[in-house]
Amino acid sequence: MDQALVGARSISVTPQATGFGAEVAGLDLSKPLSPEILAEVKAAWASHSVVAFPNQPLSLDALEAFTQQIGAFGVDPFIAPMPGRPNVLELRREPDEKATNFGAGWHSDWSFQKEPPAATLLRSEVTPPVGGDTLFADCSRAYDALSDAMKAVLAPLRAIHSATRAYGTQGVFARETEKRTMEIIVSSEADKTLSHPLVRTHPVTGRKALFVSPTYTVGIEGMSLKESHAILGFLFAHMTQEEFIYRHKWRAGMLLMWDNRCTVHLAEGGYDGHLRVMHRTTVAGDAPV
Ligand code: SIN
Repeated sequence: MDQALVGARSISVTPQATGFGAEVAGLDLSKPLSPEILAEVKAAWASHSVVAFPNQPLSLDALEAFTQQIGAFGVDPFIAPMPGRPNVLELRREPDEKATNFGAGWHSDWSFQKEPPAATLLRSEVTPPVGGDTLFADCSRAYDALSDAMKAVLAPLRAIHSATRAYGTQGVFARETEKRTMEIIVSSEADKTLSHPLVRTHPVTGRKALFVSPTYTVGIEGMSLKESHAILGFLFAHMTQEEFIYRHKWRAGMLLMWDNRCTVHLAEGGYDGHLRVMHRTTVAGDAPV
């Protein structure tokens, strides 16, 4: 356990057993953090990519206030926000819902944006007694594990991102027939594409990471679909291998903050018949380089 002592306060950072992700204790996030403690929290987030803060009974006001201590709000498209809270999404699945749970494919949040969010914060309000884990893949470690020859192939490539498969006019949500509590906004805006470096460099740590996902990456610039699929298919399988995964098990009242610049995640189902309610905010990021 790393102990970061700051004045009379301390935070403790306990890395997860896999060495990816950490739990941070010794904080009350409902109150503003001192600059020193905030710096420690940001440093833990940069080092561990996925940080969990257990026992945080946060009101929505407090969740918004903590988010803004990390950075400015990001822009959340295609999902209706909570009434009166333009920057908070409620991820809610009722016990009788049959629609696939939200976030069920590997992705980095809103990677199809010009400046995708740096962070996502997710707080558990109601956790089901079974299922509902969130899995994370460490895209920096996955990059590091590639051969030098493969790294050289990937270095100049730009990956094409789009929300079309999920929110587009022919996407999964457009074709959905089952009832869903969350209000999804299908739009032709989602069919647009833009490209980012396939390998991005983290602005804080300087580490390189694969920046692709099966949900939002639809091709590679200058390559045929067949060629793109061959390379992306290899990368998706590579980065989601067990050795790069952290499985987050939720407890009620837990806040999780992850780094979209070097991780992808997937929300697991397995809790039909039970309510699951989460509140989510994002923090704006930079254009990937
Ligand atoms: C998401 O933000 O992709 C959903 C994560 C979750 O519900 O566990």
